[in-house]
Amino acid sequence: MLIAGNWKMNTDVPEGRALANDIATGLSERPDAFADIDVLVCPSFVHLPAVSDALADAPVAVGAQDMHAEDAGAHTGDVSAPMLTSIGCDAVILGHSERREYYNETDADVNRKVKQARTHDLVPIVCVGESLQQRQAGNAASVVTQQVEGALSGVSIADASELVVAYEPIWAIGTGESAAPEQAQEMHAVIRDNLAERYGADVAADIPLLYGGSMKPHNAHGLLSQPDIDGGLIGSASLAADSFLGIADEAVHVRQEEPA
Ligand code: PGA
Repeated sequence: MLIAGNWKMNTDVPEGRALANDIATGLSERPDAFADIDVLVCPSFVHLPAVSDALADAPVAVGAQDMHAEDAGAHTGDVSAPMLTSIGCDAVILGHSERREYYNETDADVNRKVKQARTHDLVPIVCVGESLQQRQAGNAASVVTQQVEGALSGVSIADASELVVAYEPIWAIGTGESAAPEQAQEMHAVIRDNLAERYGADVAADIPLLYGGSMKPHNAHGLLSQPDIDGGLIGSASLAADSFLGIADEAVHVRQEEPA
């Protein structure tokens, strides 16, 4: 189970450092509970050194929210994979719907970034998800399948084994209206099947599929209990240690309820 926070463009650096410290403190108060749960935070680029430093002794990985597909060059305002790894970044969110919508990122762009991330040993967290209009038109599964296929075109089995996919229906992001657990499970099963066709059932079974979109402590249990939901990508609820760790607590409960 992976509980990942996407801080988006929130908090200044001292606030981000304080949030990271609160998360580290919360985890240190109940170390055994989280033994089976992976925790990741993805702050903005400017936070990464301070947050990595604050979490250096905590069982929390640190990721970025985007990166450029090339190593270096004349790309004003961009950040490269080698820059991220040089400050100890472990993962990078790619193809978030906000990047697709506001920066016109295409599946081909996401695909280049996925390959670049793997070249530099970063775990890509590939975001996919349909709009409300696409869902209402009955196209949710086909839209998401196309995004998965586009993002992973030419990605090897070895690299797929180091991949995370996040299903984030656009209509659920930041709206307070999460997908119903069954709705989310249905889409996660579509994604799992697609990965199984591409990489085989065993590899597909081990690729963590995160749900994202208004996941909160009160709805996390129902979502995380679904067979193909392996964690959460959490936006607004990741901006306070209480709610973020509240979701991680729910992940612990779900794990404890699983048959041995
Ligand atoms: P939200 O954001 O939890 O605030 O809905 C999730 C995301 O966009 O990753």
